Amino acid sequence: MSITAEIRVGDKTLPLPVIVGTEQEVGLDIQALRDKTGAVTFDPGYGNTGACESAVTFLDGELGILRYRGYPIEQLAGKVSFLEVSWLLLKGELPNAAELAAFTAAEKAHRALPAHVHAIIAAFPADAHPMAILSAATLSLSSTYLADEKVTEAGLNKSQLLLLAQFPTIAAAIYRKGKGLAAVAPDAKLAYSANFLHMMFEGTGNAAAGDPEIAKALDLLLILHADHEQNCSTSTVRLVGSAQTDYFASIAAGITALWGPLHGGANQAVIEMLDGIVAHGGDVNWAVAQAKDKDSSFRLMGFGHRVYKNFDPRATIIKVQADVVLGKLGKNDPQLGIAKGLEEAALKDEYFVARKLYPNVDFYSGIIYRALGFPYGLFTVLFAIGRLPGWTAHWNEHNAGKAKIGRPRQIYTGKNARDVVELSKR
Ligand SMILES: CC(C)(COP(=O)(O)OP(=O)(O)OC[C@H]1O[C@@H](n2cnc3c(N)ncnc32)[C@H](O)[C@@H]1OP(=O)(O)O)[C@@H](O)C(=O)NCCC(=O)NCCS
Repeated sequence: MSITAEIRVGDKTLPLPVIVGTEQEVGLDIQALRDKTGAVTFDPGYGNTGACESAVTFLDGELGILRYRGYPIEQLAGKVSFLEVSWLLLKGELPNAAELAAFTAAEKAHRALPAHVHAIIAAFPADAHPMAILSAATLSLSSTYLADEKVTEAGLNKSQLLLLAQFPTIAAAIYRKGKGLAAVAPDAKLAYSANFLHMMFEGTGNAAAGDPEIAKALDLLLILHADHEQNCSTSTVRLVGSAQTDYFASIAAGITALWGPLHGGANQAVIEMLDGIVAHGGDVNWAVAQAKDKDSSFRLMGFGHRVYKNFDPRATIIKVQADVVLGKLGKNDPQLGIAKGLEEAALKDEYFVARKLYPNVDFYSGIIYRALGFPYGLFTVLFAIGRLPGWTAHWNEHNAGKAKIGRPRQIYTGKNARDVVELSKR
């Protein structure tokens, strides 16, 4: 069935070209709207706006489907590594053995940070949030690598390969600086996530360093965060990149967008909320009542999603993983029980049912990070490490086409023209 669409504005009727995606999503092309009718669309929060065509990730929020380049998240999780998923997002296909070997070797070869990045991390005050430091450290890399846009032997853009390799090194350096510990050099014998745990926890007595099963669990978490189509931070990366701002600066902006508690910062906010429930004697109904109270700004963090109106498939996988990791560590974290109780109470409550609010990716992830010994402030940094290949794939996709600068319109509601009055008469 072919779909037609038109819009009438006053006495003008404009036929709208219809775009149908590969999953039959329908978009109405309104690019001629303002020229032909003088009107613009009004869509605060962009809930009905398709800002681009994209071939990276498909998401069906009603059915709870998430696929990277066509592969269901459930198949990728546990079957491939984070580096394979990174390649998939960046190149469009899973790597073959030779491609993966070259990519892995190149990633290992570029993990060490330029000296100035350590100096920048050290210069931040002790109470600075790690996301602020991560963004600044990333931005600072543009001065070092700006001209390095050539494609490496491993088949990836050099700047992008470097940042992928160095993100965990930056995160570990931030953590260790906060603890007053010297940075640990990367170990090229170790794979991506195992090396990250090594750089984080070596010499701290944390058993996560050197445990291959824990490294595998962390790798899986990174995969689950690797892309999520046009979310706030990814749209930021695309928008900033649309001004032909360099890659590192675009990613630095994405990091700051992710930091917010309504986006990636929710993983930290969830654990702080669970702490609050513990302080209320573990009473989950207290939290549910607060979240429903329209006079309160309290929200059930880790619940609800702009796109998912069903279970977030990532949350389902992470919930199982929380049991696995805590079991492996022999930890019985009362917060896990509280989180499960909270989920159960909310899913039975008419308020959450009517609004289709389900646990999202951030609901259980923080419990795993806490069990692994990551401080709360680093949770969103972990999200960022996972999301980097997605941001990069979108930055590339946007800049590969005849990208226009992103520039929304507005409906002006301020004062009409008036004359400036002299200071003595105001
Ligand atoms: C993710 C989120 C920002 C999506 O927001 P959104 O699509 O703009 O949805 P809205 O804020 O318009 O919410 C729709 C309704 O559900 C309610 N709602 C949404 N999320 C809620 C939550 N976590 N707790 C309580 N109520 C919530 C809103 O109050 C609103 O109710 P109303 O219709 O009576 O006014 C929102 O669900 C939220 O703040 N969640 C908590 C933060 C979080 O976990 N973020 C991570 C996302 S991966």
